[in-house]
Amino acid sequence: MKLPNQFYRPLAIGAPAPYREPPVKVERMIHFVPPHLEKFRAKVPDIAKQVDVVLGNLEDAIPADAKEAARAGFIEMAKSTDFGSTGLWTRMNSLNSPWALDDMIEIVGAVGNKLDVVMLPKVEGPWDIAYLDQLLAQLEGRNGVTKPIMIHAILETAEGVKNVDAIAAASPRMHGISLGPADLAASRAMKTTRVGGGHPEYKVIADAEGDAPRVTFQQDLWHYTIARMVDACASAGIKAFYGPFGDFSDAAACESQFRNAFLLGCAGAWSLHPTQIEIAKRVFSPDPKEVAFARRVLEAMPDGTGAVMIDGRMQDDATWKQCKVVVDLAKQVAAKDADFAKIYGL
Ligand code: GLV
Ligand code: MG
Repeated sequence: MKLPNQFYRPLAIGAPAPYREPPVKVERMIHFVPPHLEKFRAKVPDIAKQVDVVLGNLEDAIPADAKEAARAGFIEMAKSTDFGSTGLWTRMNSLNSPWALDDMIEIVGAVGNKLDVVMLPKVEGPWDIAYLDQLLAQLEGRNGVTKPIMIHAILETAEGVKNVDAIAAASPRMHGISLGPADLAASRAMKTTRVGGGHPEYKVIADAEGDAPRVTFQQDLWHYTIARMVDACASAGIKAFYGPFGDFSDAAACESQFRNAFLLGCAGAWSLHPTQIEIAKRVFSPDPKEVAFARRVLEAMPDGTGAVMIDGRMQDDATWKQCKVVVDLAKQVAAKDADFAKIYGL
C-alpha cells in the first residue's frame, strides 16, 4: 500500500501535482460521439453547448478497422472546438487491446491540455488504474500538460465489482465510476440481452389468494451494483454514474433507470442518443419542489443543529445534511444552466 506522504506526489518529472479534491463540475450527462464519422464530428460545436460533457468514443461500437480514424477524428474535434465550460473526455480502448497505448500517446501528445478525463473500460482492479496513472503522468511530463488528466473507470466485469472499493480509492487521479451494464451482464453470465434497464422476467410475485390473479412487479436488475458503486465512490470522495441505456425508443424506461440511479446517489448518466440529453438534464437536476423545501429547512436551521417541524415533518441535524446535498447540487446546476437558475430562483 502506498504511504500517505506518497499519495499526492506527481508520478513523473514534469507532471502536474495531483488534485487534492476533484474539481466540482456539473456532469449530468456524458454525451457519446463516434469521432471517426465526419457527420457526427460536424455536430460537436453545437452539441457542446447543450451538454455537460462531450466524450469521443474510441472503444466498443467503433469498428476495428476505424480505430485509428476515431483517434484522429477525436484529436481533430478536440483541436477545432471551443468547449467552454463543457467537459472533454475520451473513452480509450481497453488496456489489453492493440490500440490503448497509442490512444494515450497520440491524444495526450496532441491535445493533453484540453482533455479533462479519460474513461477506462473493463477495469478489473486498482492495478489497471495504477498503470494508466503512471502512463498519464509520463505523458503529461513529456508534453507539458499543466493540469492533471483524470481517470473515470467503467464498472463492467465481475472482478471489477468485487474490487470496486479499491478501484475508487486507487489514485487521486480518480474522477468517478460508471456502471457498464452490457459488458457486466456478459461477464456475470446474466441472462439479458438488453443494455441496462429492467427485464420482464426479473420480478417478484404476490402470494396466491384463492383464485385471484397474482400480481407481479418487475425488480431492478442493477440495484445491487449501483448501490455498491455509490458507496465505493462516495467514501472515496468521487462520483458515481449510471452508464448506457440502449433502447432509444423507450424514453420512459430510460428516465426511470436514470432516476433510480439519481435517487441512489449517482451524479449523471451516459447519453448515446440526442433524445437522452433532455432526459438526463431533467433527471439529474434536482426536483424544483425538493429544492424549495430543502431551502426552507436550511433557512429554519441556520447552524444545522437542533430540531424543527416543517409542514408536519421533523427536521434535525441529519435531515439538514440531506437538504444541503439537494441545495448544493441545485446551486451547481443553476451556476451552469440558466434555465434551472430561473426554475430554482437561485
Ligand atoms: C458499457 O460500456 C457497457 O458495457 O454497458
Ligand atoms: Mg462496455
